[in-house]
Amino acid sequence: MCGIVGYAGWRDAESVLVEGLRALEYRGYDSYGLAILSDGAVSVVKDAGRISDYRTGGTIYSGTVGIGHTRWATHGVPSAINAHPHTDCTGNFAIVHNGIIENYSALRSELAAAGHVFASETDSEVIAHLFEACYDGDMMAALRQVTGRLEGSYAVLVIAAQEGVIAAARNRSPLVIGVGDGEVVCASDLVPVIPYTREVIFLEDGDCAVVSKDALWIENGGDVVTRAPEFIAYDPESAKKTGFAHYMIKEIFEEPEAFSRTLNAMQDTEEMQRVMEGAARVTVVASGTSYHAGMIFRYLMEEFSTIPVRTEIASEFRYVRPSPDEVVLVISQSGETADALAALRRAKFHRCRTVALTNTLGSSITREADHVFYTMAGPEISVAATKSFIAQLAALMKMVSLSRGASCSLLLADVKQAIEAVLQLEMIRATDLCAGASTLIAIGRGVFYPVALEGALKMKEISYIHAEGYAGGELKHGPIALLSGETPVIAFVPPGETRTLMIGNLKEIASRQAPIIAFADPDDVDVADIAEVVIPVRHRNVFADVAAYTVAAQMLSYEVAKKLGRDIDKPRNLAKSVTVE
Ligand code: M6R
Repeated sequence: MCGIVGYAGWRDAESVLVEGLRALEYRGYDSYGLAILSDGAVSVVKDAGRISDYRTGGTIYSGTVGIGHTRWATHGVPSAINAHPHTDCTGNFAIVHNGIIENYSALRSELAAAGHVFASETDSEVIAHLFEACYDGDMMAALRQVTGRLEGSYAVLVIAAQEGVIAAARNRSPLVIGVGDGEVVCASDLVPVIPYTREVIFLEDGDCAVVSKDALWIENGGDVVTRAPEFIAYDPESAKKTGFAHYMIKEIFEEPEAFSRTLNAMQDTEEMQRVMEGAARVTVVASGTSYHAGMIFRYLMEEFSTIPVRTEIASEFRYVRPSPDEVVLVISQSGETADALAALRRAKFHRCRTVALTNTLGSSITREADHVFYTMAGPEISVAATKSFIAQLAALMKMVSLSRGASCSLLLADVKQAIEAVLQLEMIRATDLCAGASTLIAIGRGVFYPVALEGALKMKEISYIHAEGYAGGELKHGPIALLSGETPVIAFVPPGETRTLMIGNLKEIASRQAPIIAFADPDDVDVADIAEVVIPVRHRNVFADVAAYTVAAQMLSYEVAKKLGRDIDKPRNLAKSVTVE
């Protein structure tokens, strides 16, 4: 979490940093700050709140070298003092950090005993004081020494009053350096870099770099290394809101394209076929929405293929022991989720073949997995995962169709149209029912059980209404006690093998006076009889239905959050890329 950006060149650093931080706000947005080199001094401004509250010009001295940070608090409350950049006792060094310094407490005691005075409660501040202690006129030498003392994860940028350079280091937190014409931009991801250059170096774990507007020096383990810049093809327009009220709804409307782009990219994937054919068993490891995509994959594989699949929440994978004959498939939109990365490393440790499925080029999981497949969702700015989920489904459905014994590729042809149809739905009555509730329950069975879980996650994430997803059959084992006239139940009732038992569940719910919002085929008169509201989703086939029902649920969450006036693209306490375990 947290976004960092640095600039050295000929432009006004303040403007570049502020723009960069705006683009990185999805990584954290409880406080922000900038440090700029100006006439041999480091000038700092920082505050609680969002970078959008900051007005450029006048607050900070101007210069052409600087660093910036947008924070998701881990150590210490969101406040101006705890906001980055942090400085040393002299004010000559300013640092920004993304990650967690695990040994900060010992370092802090040691530095305090040596006379350093700490201002904040953060783990990161030790880096500034270590620089003060280690710097002897050579930034690289100081960086080498400082990183040698740090345990944990970090992407860190440092400026020093005495130098016109940025020192940068990476360990288990992403950091890219864009190399332009007489300028460099360092950042947590590509988005702040792309407006200035497409030539990008992805730093690797253990890299220490010193960069200036016209020079670049990278070391790893004390040896100088050469990393050639990669050219990045990327359309900056795709990361703009272009007339939509929120990124989330714009991104929902991009889902048909995200689905077919990803499917096309997978067309000739012999590599994937080989991986799936050779697998004795597949274990899917992921978090949040990506985990739900993995659960859907499991149900589809069980139905269409002979390969057994299990799913594990990434943060729980450290407590299970994988066996070397399984393929571990790590799904992560960002490719940076710390839990997913730790799971990937554990799978490798146990000699499993590993496959990464991600939306993010050059992200950490792509460097460590044996096989990498990309979803083609394009940049997803809203914290809520929507089009990235649909793109994951495209890739996973393709994997199902390539698996041993599967014959379902024709079903894929209907999915895009099914999603497009759902985008036209109107949900006023359902929105009113949900927005007036303090608890919502979502249910589904079979492959629609993860759809219910995802519907509930999306709802609570952006509307802040307490919503829980359950398997329809589980309702009677406890949650039914919550039902009353004030507890709407969102039910996914497509035609097919789950329908009969779901209708039984609807009757049980109706007998407890709980209003039912049913996602169902428009011709299903039985559902229409029982439900208070039916959101009509035309039945096509299981692949198309799973995608369409999920998109419809995303739209309902969006409408409810909008009605309640929530901060839809940046919900409280969340961040898009969760880089702490
Ligand atoms: O980047 P990842 O796919 O690894 O992220 C996993 C979760 O943090 C993520 O899906 C989260 O649940 C979303 N905010 C849900 O909308």
